[in-house]
Amino acid sequence: MPATKIVVNIPDEASYAVRVGVDVLDGLGAALRQLPAVAAAPRLLVISDDNVAPLYLDAAKASLSQAGFRAADIVVPAGEGSKSLAVIGEVWEAMAGLGLTRDCAVVALGGGVVGDLAGFAASTYMRGIPVVQVPTTLLAMVDSSVGGKTGVNLEAGKNLVGTFKQPAYVCASTATLATLSEREWCCGCAEVAKSAVIDSDDFFFWLLDNAAALAARDEAVTAEAIARCVVFKARVVSEDKTESRGVRECLNYGHTLGHAVEALSGYGTYSHGAAVAEGMRFAARLGTALAGTPEELVSAQDELLDALGLEPLAWSAAPEEMLDAMKRDKKARAGVVRFVVPVDVGRWELVDVDDAVILEHLRAWEATKA
Ligand SMILES: NC(=O)c1ccc[n+]([C@@H]2O[C@H](COP(=O)([O-])OP(=O)(O)OC[C@H]3O[C@@H](n4cnc5c(N)ncnc54)[C@H](O)[C@@H]3O)[C@@H](O)[C@H]2O)c1
Repeated sequence: MPATKIVVNIPDEASYAVRVGVDVLDGLGAALRQLPAVAAAPRLLVISDDNVAPLYLDAAKASLSQAGFRAADIVVPAGEGSKSLAVIGEVWEAMAGLGLTRDCAVVALGGGVVGDLAGFAASTYMRGIPVVQVPTTLLAMVDSSVGGKTGVNLEAGKNLVGTFKQPAYVCASTATLATLSEREWCCGCAEVAKSAVIDSDDFFFWLLDNAAALAARDEAVTAEAIARCVVFKARVVSEDKTESRGVRECLNYGHTLGHAVEALSGYGTYSHGAAVAEGMRFAARLGTALAGTPEELVSAQDELLDALGLEPLAWSAAPEEMLDAMKRDKKARAGVVRFVVPVDVGRWELVDVDDAVILEHLRAWEATKA
């Protein structure tokens, strides 16, 4: 199957290509040789984690060295804990220790954690050197590797320190997904479903038809789902690069309730995607009351999420606790909880919802878990 190339055009930024295909990792070095921002780099630094490095670091470095690049690497512990000030400090020191100069570049080889960490390292080291994203999770391929958000977490909350740094190139090798756990696969599928509902009828009904194949990791369907998500995300980001125009908020569909589920069930109990899927179900039902969302959308979305292996969670918390958690979320404004609701497939609204209305819907949600 030939690789797909999508060009991301964002105002006032250099455009960049996202290449999606089974064996595009083999062509990484050759692709970077074609990139003006990276081609002449005297040194590259590959940042990966200790799950991904044993699987794909040799292949990545072999491709880079075949193209004549000198590449060093830093491997951080896998997991969200690496998006920390301590780890970014170690990465900065290692970059300086390796003698990286302003004409060098960073290659992020891993999931969203590595992508966010390496992107942040690249955007801050010497006030910014290029970064190439080589996503290895479905979530990173369909979402985090495109759009330029980077960052680390603080004790006070997730992603509180970061930058916008568009990559110079994104290399999504679907062959790397073969080693992804079922939990991480489902997590990525939730972001695919989110994109499809927000994007268009065309994407949504294509995904509904192909959901079982995506859940079963069909190669062609996976590649097409990734490409469709990249096109969608590129469009959203090109309209709202820094989340200041009220367009990029659509990417938070499912996240208001999802974040509360993650916080109250204990981070890691459910995958981010499983929590987002639960949040999508909730937000669509809220939409029927507040935005005229058709019941058909609610049931078609339920069908889609079920087919993707994202069944409703067998978990709930008291409505008041859920509301408190939503208010503590950094996306809440002045204590008002906001939801992205789908008005219909391909159309959405950001609505400020009164506490009483949220509580009423949370009670109904809790009742389904009894
Ligand atoms: N920048 C953005 O726009 C954006 C968007 C969404 C999420 N994020 C961030 O992304 C992070 C989540 O990303 P994620 O879900 O990819 O998590 P992750 O990077 O932690 O990867 C999940 C797990 O899979 C492992 N893994 C990665 N690739 C693998 C492979 N090919 N085979 C086997 N194991 C593999 C990792 O080592 C890790 O244990 C969060 O920190 C989130 O804040 C960022």
